[in-house]
This record gives sequence, structure tokens and C-alpha cells, in this order.
Amino acid sequence: MTISIKSSSEIQSMRVAGLLASEVLDFITPYVKPGVTTDFLNSLCHNYMVDSQGTVPAPLNYCPPGYKPFPKSICTSVNHQICHGIPSEKTLKSGDIINIDVTVIKDGFHGDTSRMFFVGPPSIAARRLVETTYDALWHGINEVEPGKTLGDIGHAIQKFTESNGFSIVKEFCGHGIGKNFHEAPQVLHYGTPSTGEILLPGMTFTIEPMVNAGKANVRELSDGWTIVTKDKSLSAQWEHTILVTENGYEILTVSAGSPDLHKNIK
Ligand code: MF3
Ligand code: CO
Ligand code: CO
Repeated sequence: MTISIKSSSEIQSMRVAGLLASEVLDFITPYVKPGVTTDFLNSLCHNYMVDSQGTVPAPLNYCPPGYKPFPKSICTSVNHQICHGIPSEKTLKSGDIINIDVTVIKDGFHGDTSRMFFVGPPSIAARRLVETTYDALWHGINEVEPGKTLGDIGHAIQKFTESNGFSIVKEFCGHGIGKNFHEAPQVLHYGTPSTGEILLPGMTFTIEPMVNAGKANVRELSDGWTIVTKDKSLSAQWEHTILVTENGYEILTVSAGSPDLHKNIK
């Protein structure tokens, strides 16, 4: 599949969808506390998207080939769950870490973003994993400009992550996004500099590194969706939707509650 280049009006729609996706995370933040179930968080987000925003929760009934329909409106991945966790009646407890991944559709365009949350005070190890994963995302974002390649992004993320003693999940990746939830290209979080597709203005894709405290190996649960670390070590993930601009990047999934807006790593 070829990589679509968005027109200026499509980019404007992507900005709207991206802002709305990030605002769902702002909305849910005060509710992420010990004692709540992930299904309660799902219901709150669902109602906020549908009733307040007039957006469509893209995960609900999402059904890629070989999958069964995803049954909820957000993904909630707790502790050793890497991604695609299904909200459930399980209660969050102090010390847990959770990724909440939100994808909205507005006027036919998708915005996709996720953040990590600490449920009560985190352990030192959990805080280090979550902060390192956030920095890994930014190392990837900092590579985005016309003429650079997907391999430059993947390499920057992998090198930074592994130099901190953590491992990169290889089975899941970022993705082109627009009218489709997932479209070309695949944005790997590992790779070789100066290889792969060359970035061009108007491309929109996500970067969403999944980082394990232990080994990189993954396992899928029998629910057909939830991905966990094989060694049961903690895992973290952060995600933004990015636009390649004429001279760099624009992050489309930034809102008032986004942490550390203009963090500069270079
Ligand atoms: N939001 C995820 C991503 O970042 C995809 C979730 S698919 C779902 O690509 F069906 F689990 F929602
Ligand atoms: Co995504
Ligand atoms: Co996502």
C-alpha cells in the first residue's frame, strides 16, 4: 500500500480529531484512582466521546482480519499487559501502572493517542520504565522531518530504550492514520538509520513504542486481544499522532493536559 499524503483540508480534520482524542485522556485523568474498574473508565470515556464530543470511539467493534470485534471503546493495559487490554470489572489498586489508549473518529478522520497513568504512588522501577518510555517516544518524534526515514525513527527509539536496559516490543508498531484507523506505513520502533520509507510533508502516522522492563517476548491472552509480556515483567507505552510538516513535525494529539508539551531532547 502506498502512503497517503494528506491535503490541507484533510490535515485540518486530523488536527480536530487529534485534539479530541487527547482531550478524552485529559477528561479521564482524575478518575484513574485505586478502587475503580477499567470498565468504569471505559464507560466514562465512551459517554464523553459520544455525548459531549460527538465523536465515534474507533476501537468499539473494530475487527481487523483474523480478530474478533473489540468489545469496548478504549484499551486499558495494566502492569504486564503491553497493549490492547480489554476494560473489565477488575479493580485498579495502588501501585498499578495503566496505559489508556484512545482513538476517536470525527468527520471521518482518526486521532489516536495513549498515555501512562500511575494508580497511587509508583515503585521506583515502574516510574523509571514509564518515564523512559515517554522519552523513547520523544526520541522518535525528534527524528521526524522531510528526508529522514522510518528507519531513523525506529533506530532512535530502539537505541535509547536498550541503552537504558529495557526492551522494545517488535510485534506491534505505529501506523499511518487518517480516514483509516490503521493504514500504511508500519512505523517500527526499531531499525537501521537511513533505511525504509522517506518521510514527506503531509504524511500522518502514529509513534507508539511499547517498552518492557524484562525481555521483549509477548503472549496473546485467550480473549484474542490482550497482549502481555511473556516473562510477566511490567510494560509501558505512550502514543502520539504526528504530521510531517515542511520542516519537521506537528504533534496532532496535544491538548491542555498533555504532559511536558515541548520537551526537547536533541
Ligand atoms: N489504539 C491502538 C493503536 O494504537 C489500536 C487498538 S485496536 C483495538 O493502534 F481494537 F484494540 F482498539
Ligand atoms: Co495507534
Ligand atoms: Co492507540
